[in-house]
Amino acid sequence: MSEILLQIDGKEAAAREGMTILEAAQKAGIAIPTLCHHEKLEPYGGCRLCTVEVEAAGRSKLVAACLYPVEKDLVVRTRSEKVDRIRKMILELLLAHAPDAFELQDLAKEYGADRDLFEKEASFCIHCGLCVRYCAEVKKKNAVGFVDRGTRREISFVPGIASKECWKCKQCFPLCPTEALQAAYVLTDALISAPPAKPESEE
Ligand code: SF4
Ligand code: FES
Repeated sequence: MSEILLQIDGKEAAAREGMTILEAAQKAGIAIPTLCHHEKLEPYGGCRLCTVEVEAAGRSKLVAACLYPVEKDLVVRTRSEKVDRIRKMILELLLAHAPDAFELQDLAKEYGADRDLFEKEASFCIHCGLCVRYCAEVKKKNAVGFVDRGTRREISFVPGIASKECWKCKQCFPLCPTEALQAAYVLTDALISAPPAKPESEE
């Protein structure tokens, strides 16, 4: 595979053809924040926190670093006024869901995001999909999935699968940027383990 030279934050960086900007930056020791990326998973492009500015053929645009492939002579800026403004806004929207998530709070400090800008819709899940995709793509179990749509979208464990698979696995727990996943599992586990309700006539 041929080597591609590009520029990231003013430094020349060497990447392999087919790499994404995120991978090239990581190889060059340059950090780009991510919330939905995992090296073992297919690129997803859900959170857009990895947005960077690229310049090619004299035109500049904003792209998701975890999806955008490297190109010869591409000029990448991982921090700029525009990039920082977008990351700040994304974080403010996510903080409305998970205001107490440590990972979001740390990022909010870095980008000056206001935790209280948007009205709270505390579902705690920020829909990064890491748990769902990890369980499906790496573990091949599909024990956790999304239910509902739009703002009501939530994750949910499939009780029949979770009761057999999850207690001995739990590899998705550390992936979650909020506390939503563990809470959902604890709830599912409690429901699975609860004794069946007695019919009314027996009470
Ligand atoms: S529960 Fe956590 S890991 Fe799963 S989609 Fe929501 S935020 Fe992401
Ligand atoms: S890390 Fe790139 S879109 Fe989420």
